[in-house]
Amino acid sequence: MENLQLLIDFHVNAKRQGPGSDLDTAKALSLMPIACESKLQIADIGCGSGAQTLVLAKELQADITAVDLFPEFLEKLTERAKASGLEGKIKILEASMEELPFENESLDIIWSEGAIYNMGFENGVKNWKKFLKPNGYLAVSEITWLSESRPKEIEDHWNSEYPEICTASTKFSVLERNGFSPVGYFILPESSWIEEYYNPIENRFDKFLNDHQHSEAAKELISIEKEEIRLYKKYKDYLSYGFYIAKKL
Ligand SMILES: C[S@@+](CC[C@H](N)C(=O)[O-])C[C@H]1O[C@@H](n2cnc3c(N)ncnc32)[C@H](O)[C@@H]1O
Repeated sequence: MENLQLLIDFHVNAKRQGPGSDLDTAKALSLMPIACESKLQIADIGCGSGAQTLVLAKELQADITAVDLFPEFLEKLTERAKASGLEGKIKILEASMEELPFENESLDIIWSEGAIYNMGFENGVKNWKKFLKPNGYLAVSEITWLSESRPKEIEDHWNSEYPEICTASTKFSVLERNGFSPVGYFILPESSWIEEYYNPIENRFDKFLNDHQHSEAAKELISIEKEEIRLYKKYKDYLSYGFYIAKKL
């Protein structure tokens, strides 16, 4: 089995594919002063199996297009939406976030939790802006340094994983120079990493290894996950996901 397929297999049955929580999604929404006179047009980009899509669908009168590159996640979201009676509000779209088929100025809100890094924060902000109506909102969560300096081990790790990692003030500048006005920001609490994401991951290790006959590739994937968890627990004072809410000017 290819490594990408293994990674999908490891994450597909999880409630979420990255740090976050239903409360974080609701909090980000509460920071967005949206007028609800008509049905909102929303895209949830890099939706995974749709933890945040379901919260948005519950909370809003909206047509939500949930976009992901991998059909396995979208199938899970379809099942979950049906089980919650929310399928009427959610349209599934298998597409790359780099080639979205939306009309210009057609969306009220672009939502993306833990996914914009796949094309890079600034690249995503630049590319997605045209799809928003004037005064539309962008809500994205993104790995963020919490201080100006940090230990070398964590600095080196993230600079090699995602060189665009930086502090919130730098992300605000990126938003501002690309025609957005930041209207809200908060950092995800530790519980959104540990209870919501890493504990469920750790609980899946044994079954995953058994299901894949302890193959070298499966063991390698688990060791990468373990290292990520170790680094987070050791250096959690220095980084988190920041949730950025910004208005298109
Ligand atoms: C870390 S997960 C976050 C998923 C979900 N938003 C959550 O927080 O649970 C990143 C998601 O981005 C999706 N993804 C990766 N590259 C993509 C691309 N080029 N276009 C669309 N989705 C992509 C992955 O399949 C995955 O579902």
